Amino acid sequence: MSVPHLTPRLQLIAEQVKALKSDDFYVAADIGTDHAKLPVFLVKTGICSFVYAGDVRSGPLESAGKTVSFYGCTEEQIVLLCSDGLKEIPQNYHTVIIAGMGGELIVKILSETSCPENTAFVLSPMTAAEDLRRYLFENRFSILSEKIAMEGERVYPVLTAKKTGFDKDYDDCDCYLSPALLMNRQDPGVIRYIKKQMAAKDKIINGKKTAGLFDEEYAAAAVLRERFLHILEEIGE
Ligand SMILES: C[S@@+](CC[C@H](N)C(=O)[O-])C[C@H]1O[C@@H](n2cnc3c(N)ncnc32)[C@H](O)[C@@H]1O
Repeated sequence: MSVPHLTPRLQLIAEQVKALKSDDFYVAADIGTDHAKLPVFLVKTGICSFVYAGDVRSGPLESAGKTVSFYGCTEEQIVLLCSDGLKEIPQNYHTVIIAGMGGELIVKILSETSCPENTAFVLSPMTAAEDLRRYLFENRFSILSEKIAMEGERVYPVLTAKKTGFDKDYDDCDCYLSPALLMNRQDPGVIRYIKKQMAAKDKIINGKKTAGLFDEEYAAAAVLRERFLHILEEIGE
């Protein structure tokens, strides 16, 4: 059987969708599908029975159409939809995937549509992951798992989440390194991710020091850097 080749990031996303499988007839919605390699992989490997593949732009939808027909997927398996976020997607999905966009855009998409109760989410922000985690904490989602995909030097977080409706205590550090992520703190990808977060704070701190600006942003970065350092020391890094 021929299936599209997935990058390690998309492969990890597919594994997370599989881990959330909750029904024999399992339906996912892939928002911002672009080339639609993920939906094709999901139906071809039997992880999903049916996938809505949505994108807001016509170019990606054309490319998605080519992938879908190249792999011989039918309309009983994949339906392509022009949709801004989840707005035009019928709500009979079990799992929503939003990957390969900035954290702010993922937050915007999540905040514009209320999904059916018990919907599971697989989210993989390319930037501003801390904004996404903060949104999830503030809006009574629970982060069920968080793993890191490594592609060369790059690291990509892949989160799974569900709305629980319960408040959960969290602090700034949890928004950068979620408790779910730190459950896998010995994982090489997680260690690299923590080091990257620390390097980003070092950059802010050094820039502020050079400018002689010991403001609130400097203080917040210094506090987070200490927390990241402590976690790395605990791991023995
Ligand atoms: C970089 S691609 C990511 C493709 C794939 N999801 C992945 O992770 O590799 C981002 C896609 O999101 C689409 N997109 C951006 N904003 C969107 C929105 N509001 N609703 C749906 N799709 C959107 C873009 O058109 C583009 O095809």
